[in-house]
Amino acid sequence: MNQGVTPGCNPSSHIFVSSPTGVQVTLFIYGLHHNPKVWPNPELFDPSRFAPDTPRHSHSFLPFSGGARNCIGKQFAMSEMKVIVALTLLRFELLPDPTRVPMPLARLVLKSKNGIYLHLKKLH
Ligand code: HEM
Repeated sequence: MNQGVTPGCNPSSHIFVSSPTGVQVTLFIYGLHHNPKVWPNPELFDPSRFAPDTPRHSHSFLPFSGGARNCIGKQFAMSEMKVIVALTLLRFELLPDPTRVPMPLARLVLKSKNGIYLHLKKLH
């Protein structure tokens, strides 16, 4: 956290920061999503974490950031991804390419330095 920022906690356990004008605060979202206190066994692919009615903190999952300046394209991006994934999985089985493993690259959102290579096996 940058110099001049005063972190604290209010009684509802929300973290607040007050900072002088112009100070830039960066959230470590990858760390949040891999924190075992927030997400037990974080490396496990477990879609049931997101099942309806599963209790979790409102800010425990922030791929689109949070608060007043979160992503304005969130709803569009989520709809687009669901359509693409559904239409793809209807037609293909996706398998990783063990010879070209993605190398994570931390940017505004997590990317792959060397692309993401998959084998597509046609269904039916
Ligand atoms: C999977 C897709 C996407 C991800 C993961 C994503 C993620 C994010 C994140 C983390 C931020 C906050 C940046 C910050 O804290 O400064 C952001 C902001 C923003 N995103 Fe996205 N985004 C996605 C798609 C989109 C799309 C499709 C659009 C437009 C159609 C969009 C438009 C914006 C804009 C304009 C902001 C700035 C909002 C502001 O500063 O008030 N994003 N996005």
